[in-house]
Amino acid sequence: MEITISVIKADIGGYVGHSSSHPDVVEKGRQKLISAQSEGLLTDHHVTVCGDDLQLIMTHQKGTDNEQIHKLAWDTFVECTAVAKSLKLHGAGQDLLSEAFSGNVRGMGPGIAEMQFSEREAETIIIFMADKTSSGAWNLPLYKMFADPFNTIGLVIASNMHSGFAFEVHDVKESKKIRFNAPEEIYDMLVYLGAPSRYAVKAVYHKESGEIAAVSSTEKLSLMAGRYVGKDDPVCVVRSQGKFPAVGEILEPFSFPHIVEGWMRGSHNGPLMPVACGQSNPCRFDGPPRVVAAGFQLANGKLVGPRDLFDDPAFDEARHQANILADFLRRMGPFEPHRLPLEEMEYTTMPEVARKLESRFEDI
Ligand code: F6R
Ligand code: MG
Ligand code: MG
Repeated sequence: MEITISVIKADIGGYVGHSSSHPDVVEKGRQKLISAQSEGLLTDHHVTVCGDDLQLIMTHQKGTDNEQIHKLAWDTFVECTAVAKSLKLHGAGQDLLSEAFSGNVRGMGPGIAEMQFSEREAETIIIFMADKTSSGAWNLPLYKMFADPFNTIGLVIASNMHSGFAFEVHDVKESKKIRFNAPEEIYDMLVYLGAPSRYAVKAVYHKESGEIAAVSSTEKLSLMAGRYVGKDDPVCVVRSQGKFPAVGEILEPFSFPHIVEGWMRGSHNGPLMPVACGQSNPCRFDGPPRVVAAGFQLANGKLVGPRDLFDDPAFDEARHQANILADFLRRMGPFEPHRLPLEEMEYTTMPEVARKLESRFEDI
């Protein structure tokens, strides 16, 4: 059975501040998707949140980039924004950059990760959702999952994974894409993946079968808006088991709270802390950045789950290390590398300050 999974998300209002989401907004989202499912547009759905981002997880048979599905997501965000406005939530409607829907939500503010595949006898999927960070945040974990034998032993000892995976990498500033084969081209590929503010892994494919293994949202909110409106707070869908990495191999990279950009005012580097869904409420200095993992089995397109995969004491140490890193970095205050480098501050308050002081700079 061919099935499409669409994860479309947006920050349409925070409660309190940018720290979390209000239950009434989530409830509105649920009602919208319940009625879309009863009308036959969706096979199944799950509405959840990560921090201040509303996450619409939908399964259907309409394929990727489908106008009806994107319109449903857009209309849901618009109606949820109305609830957010009535409660005077913070930044109500902040990610909806356009007044009207024009066929596809790409480029309109929300983040999108969609994949179509033929459902296997047992189809295990994990949906990662992050808050207070940007779209390149998945580069390091996706590399580890699909190309690093020290993380994924299946690459070495499972014959159906031994030929490796292909990575589709997007240059988010120049709107170009390139495909790398792993393991043959990992040295070339890492030149780009190591610069996640510009290059982001869009998708991963099983090399031998060509089947899609992972897809992420690579939308850059600041590049769409031309100014700072909020961070991308990206999502990523990963297929698991069989010819794809096992659940444990997919979660393993997050035992290391790697440093990502985002956090306070989207202008800082900080550790990505893996947390249970109920803990995705970034408060300390509006962070540190969070990631949650929702695991599902698919049954003819029905979402069986979720299992809250980081709700596990095995990730306590990663959370502890993230807190130590957070303390360490915070002590640097407004200094790099806690604060982002100048080029990355292009879409924050920096240009205003620079404009104001321009005439006071003298030649040396
Ligand atoms: C980061 C984020 C927050 C806000 C900060 C200021 O992505 O959303 O750190 O940037 O709370 O928010 P405003 O400008 O809305 O008062
Ligand atoms: Mg927000
Ligand atoms: Mg957010």
